[in-house]
Amino acid sequence: MTRPAAVIYFRLMTIRPIICIPDPRLRQVSKPVEKVDDELRALMDDMLETMIDAPGIGLAAIQIALPIRVVVIDCSEREYENEETKSPPRQSKPIYFVNPEIAWVSEEIKSHEEGCLSIPDYFEMVERPSACRVRYDDYEGKPQDLLCEGILATCIQHEVDHLNGILFIDYLSRLKRDRVMRKFQKAAKERIRGDA
Ligand code: NI
Repeated sequence: MTRPAAVIYFRLMTIRPIICIPDPRLRQVSKPVEKVDDELRALMDDMLETMIDAPGIGLAAIQIALPIRVVVIDCSEREYENEETKSPPRQSKPIYFVNPEIAWVSEEIKSHEEGCLSIPDYFEMVERPSACRVRYDDYEGKPQDLLCEGILATCIQHEVDHLNGILFIDYLSRLKRDRVMRKFQKAAKERIRGDA
């Protein structure tokens, strides 16, 4: 079944708040989704909207504080009708992954610069398998098997890590990880003080 365009057009999508380190919820292991239904599709629409707004190329549900195994990725080159508002994306090709599982990884390893919407403005090189195969259910709940290469391979491995409570900074040296954690802990404390 294809998505009725009119429904998508008129549905009001919501941009959800993204949680950041040191929020302990990012360390939770997310639960499998039992059924792909309209409610889940509405959530996936919101995730895409939130990700585009951020802007990012991948988002796991736990990043909007929902511990379920859902990921949205769009690594396609985006061009915007309106550069100011960054919308609407002209060449958006989102992929929705429900219960994604990495079924195979290549022996070849590649280093790629990674960032994370839950660790804003921080980028580091991370080594991962350069290709992988992922099994998942799509937007309609149909099982899929996808060979991922390039940026998509990096991105899906990063997002599946989120579902298991793993962050890309876990692959860095302890020194680098401690430094970024301290920076965000300090910022969080200052925010709390500011609110009081
Ligand atoms: Ni991330």
